[in-house]
Amino acid sequence: MIKRWIVENDVDSKESYPQIVDAATILQQDEVIAFPTETVYGLGANAKSDRAVEKIFEAKGRPSDNPLIVHISNKTQLEELVADIPSAAAKLIEAYWPGPLTLIFKNKAGVFSSKVTAGLDTVAIRMPDHPVALAIIEASGLPIAAPSANRSGKPSPTTAQHVIDDLEGRIAGVVDGGETGVGVESTVLDCTGEIPVILRPGGVTKEQIEEVVGKVAVDPSLKEGKGAPKSPGMKYTHYAPDAPVYLVDGSREYIQQLVDEKRAEGMKVGVLTTKEYLAYFNADTILSVGERRDLHTVAHHLYDTLRAFNGSDVDIIFSEMFPEKGVGLAIMNRLQKAAGYRVIKP
Ligand code: TXA
Ligand code: MG
Repeated sequence: MIKRWIVENDVDSKESYPQIVDAATILQQDEVIAFPTETVYGLGANAKSDRAVEKIFEAKGRPSDNPLIVHISNKTQLEELVADIPSAAAKLIEAYWPGPLTLIFKNKAGVFSSKVTAGLDTVAIRMPDHPVALAIIEASGLPIAAPSANRSGKPSPTTAQHVIDDLEGRIAGVVDGGETGVGVESTVLDCTGEIPVILRPGGVTKEQIEEVVGKVAVDPSLKEGKGAPKSPGMKYTHYAPDAPVYLVDGSREYIQQLVDEKRAEGMKVGVLTTKEYLAYFNADTILSVGERRDLHTVAHHLYDTLRAFNGSDVDIIFSEMFPEKGVGLAIMNRLQKAAGYRVIKP
């Protein structure tokens, strides 16, 4: 049985929560545990230990050339951990840490296990905005490497139950702090060059970054899923339910027409839609991912909804698309990956 510690989300110090001390002790022993962050659940391990970090890759079945994000609990820790803090990064930290923004820094030799950085000369760091994550990191006294706590290729976990479904028997335990908030992972931003580049869109939007540092680029390989992405993780298929997903760039009438065609061929068909359109469709499984007029609700429910399709035996899933504004950029990036970049147009 996996160990499951239940913790209230208003935890403010490790003293009041022996579960936090328990979890931190396990991290100090170079074991891996899952815990909530404001984005998704992370699978944490001591970022200084080769052995601990290897266990993350083993538990997830993650390719070892895909580096991990290091999580810290205090902005002042950063100086000791990286070679240089560019001025754009310093401004963004002031504005958005703690929060869903991961920054790429030049590595300082000998600080982290080389398994964390997959041998790159840079390292990804963030300070999560979640009381439980912060309390555990703080109590461990360690920088904590933590990718999303899912089996490689699956949608990221937004509840402790998702973690258990994927990793039971493979990790020491999970700290259950309830549902995560943002629902999609942090934005990964490279500030080591002249213009900051978004390597993975996420919880802090391009517009929010531009407010602080001006012009920002988006790694062009994210668009078509072609070319070599600068964020190694972006080259792998991800987030996919068992049935193939197709994004539909057309009206709901057109989506219904595609559903009817596939059902006439004897297929069971799923539709990923929004609250506004829920009543319109006629298909085998129809799931609402949130409200189109508030894309934060869509981000919040995205992975849970993709996972929920596995509970029904659909053969194919048609999904609506979303405007690539604000958090919509991250939503569309994850949906495109879930769909293997398959888009159907009338
Ligand atoms: O919200 C999040 O960021 C979650 C929670 C748990 O904090 N973590 C997360 O980690 O999403 P992971 O490992 O699933 O995604 C890390 C991403 C990958 O796309 C990886 O390639 C990229 O960050 N990355 C890590 N180190 C990098 C580096 N040095 N240069 C470029 N990309 C890097
Ligand atoms: Mg992940």
